[in-house]
Amino acid sequence: MVTARAPATSANLGSGFDTFGVALSHPADTVAVERADETTIEVTGAGAQFIPTDPEKNVVGAVAAALDAPAHIRIDKGVRPSSGLGSSAASAAAAAVALDELYDRGHSREGLIPAAAEGEALVSGEAHADNVAPALLGGFTVVRRDDSATSVDARLPLVACLPEVVVSTKDARGVVPDSMSMADHVETVGNAATLTAGMCQSDPELVGHGMDDPVVTPARAELITGYDAVREAALSAGATGVTVSGAGPSLLAACPSGSRRRVAAAMVEAFADAGVGARAYQTEVGRGATVL
Ligand code: HSE
Repeated sequence: MVTARAPATSANLGSGFDTFGVALSHPADTVAVERADETTIEVTGAGAQFIPTDPEKNVVGAVAAALDAPAHIRIDKGVRPSSGLGSSAASAAAAAVALDELYDRGHSREGLIPAAAEGEALVSGEAHADNVAPALLGGFTVVRRDDSATSVDARLPLVACLPEVVVSTKDARGVVPDSMSMADHVETVGNAATLTAGMCQSDPELVGHGMDDPVVTPARAELITGYDAVREAALSAGATGVTVSGAGPSLLAACPSGSRRRVAAAMVEAFADAGVGARAYQTEVGRGATVL
């Protein structure tokens, strides 16, 4: 039997829609695999009741098929589904690493991105690699059109705040404008480059500034009750930048060291003032999938 762990992730970081991602130190999914003639799946943990065990419908079934590695697969969910924190990517990445080890295939972490992205395609209809890349590689990642990715290690405190609000990825993608003005393009490129430089330097001020996004985030914020108030509360408590995590509903805040607890409390309180229950993870940029 082989067991692997893969972390929650946050995609987009504002200015890097469908391109940027970051691994969080926690929460994480754990996946245990044993060789079998055909794939079977068991799921326990956060939101397990919402996750299908049919291999044709579960991300890890798609990963096992892509790797031609049938197995009995046990998923222990630490990352709640539909959170905007890369729940399916965490399971897909952990399964890919565990199955690769079980069958001694010798793929690199980057070489496993296409197989893990097959899992994403199953749940979202499109094979985005912006969550599976950081779940596999760790750190801050930039994915390209061909699903290849570059990863940078960064030391950066983060808060991920998960409200009890339901946002479907379909709706969140439906509100994204089809086009943008040249002025918005110039602003977005400047912010994305600033964020990348900030990650390379582990500089929360640059990262926070670079999270601003004039196009996708404002459209998606409308789907999250309390977004503006929670963002303002986090910034007042010391966060350097706040944006929607992935397709939402979680919000991600970049923080200077020593400010996470205050930021987390401010975000949860602001959601409560808006009538929404929420929990906050005080986390940081973390490493990618590991065999335990
Ligand atoms: N980049 C994707 C989005 C992540 O924001 O829709 C969720 O699949």
